[in-house]
Amino acid sequence: MIETSRDRTTLLIGASGTLGVELAAAFAGDHVVATHHAHPRAGTVFFDALATPVANLLAGRPGGRGCAVIMAGITAIDDCARDPLGSAAVNVAGVIRLIDETRALGLVPVFISSDGVFDGSRAWWAEGDQARPILEYGRQKLAVEQYLQASGEPSLVIRLPKLMEDRPQPRGFLFGCIQALGRPGPLPCAIDQYFTPASAGDAARAIATLARGGARGLYHVAGPERLSRSELMARMAAEYARHAPVKAQLADCRLGDLPMFEPRPLDTSMRCARLARDFGIVLRPAGDACADAVRAHFLQST
Ligand SMILES: NC(=O)c1ccc[n+]([C@@H]2O[C@H](COP(=O)([O-])OP(=O)(O)OC[C@H]3O[C@@H](n4cnc5c(N)ncnc54)[C@H](OP(=O)(O)O)[C@@H]3O)[C@@H](O)[C@H]2O)c1
Repeated sequence: MIETSRDRTTLLIGASGTLGVELAAAFAGDHVVATHHAHPRAGTVFFDALATPVANLLAGRPGGRGCAVIMAGITAIDDCARDPLGSAAVNVAGVIRLIDETRALGLVPVFISSDGVFDGSRAWWAEGDQARPILEYGRQKLAVEQYLQASGEPSLVIRLPKLMEDRPQPRGFLFGCIQALGRPGPLPCAIDQYFTPASAGDAARAIATLARGGARGLYHVAGPERLSRSELMARMAAEYARHAPVKAQLADCRLGDLPMFEPRPLDTSMRCARLARDFGIVLRPAGDACADAVRAHFLQST
């Protein structure tokens, strides 16, 4: 019998955020089941990491071939720090349950981790570098990575940087920046926080290529351009100014000057040599991706 991509099952668990929307498009053609928790979007089904059996998502369909992309969790950095036990119950114990059930159904777990596993003490972290998180969120991501690695069974772990929506959405990072640029008053931008942001669509397509291509182990999937938050904001402001007056005054500051519950790592830029070497993938530079997104925002609002 000829196998088609519809025979391949892809579970997108925790798909109501920036990445999930793009992953649903990137895995189009597969039998895709995407979930939400508190924020339903078109085509998603409710899933609770603490209670819902993963088998419910298959509704009797055999698992067999395919993967489960596991994104579900409490992802606001300060929410994890304020409630380490409550957030770990979801982000570590809950996610490990999903991994175990996913495997029992014959699907490969694809765990979405973060550049927040690094302590930020230098630039350009590679997969082989030791992760020493200073954030509770990062410690929880690393605990799941280590569980997968220790199991010795097939899995794929993908560390992502700050993601930018391709079409700004109300709960997204870029949407917040665009709103801020249109408000009069000083807009503090850290000159000492560096990262390698990426378009969510580019990251989702890379994840789909890795998963479908049978990649295993740990991959960094990030943009090729290391930028400070202030530089990224300046790129956004330059594109914004082509469509409307920027009302905010960009004001350089240090990350430590901004009110945060938990201090952030200063430099989480990631090197993606493994992605380029094994799959020939290099994502769009962050400056280009954010300019495209700001343009898309103004085009869709005219
Ligand atoms: N966005 C970024 O910049 C970024 C950067 C690095 C890594 N990541 C990782 O990439 C993944 C996706 O991020 P995202 O920004 O697209 O999504 P997100 O907005 O951070 O949300 C994660 C998902 O988890 C769901 N969720 C929350 N609590 C849950 C629970 N108790 N049970 C089941 N599901 C629950 C959310 O559902 P509701 O929203 O419907 O409640 C949402 O679908 C996350 O694992 C995140 O840590 C994201």
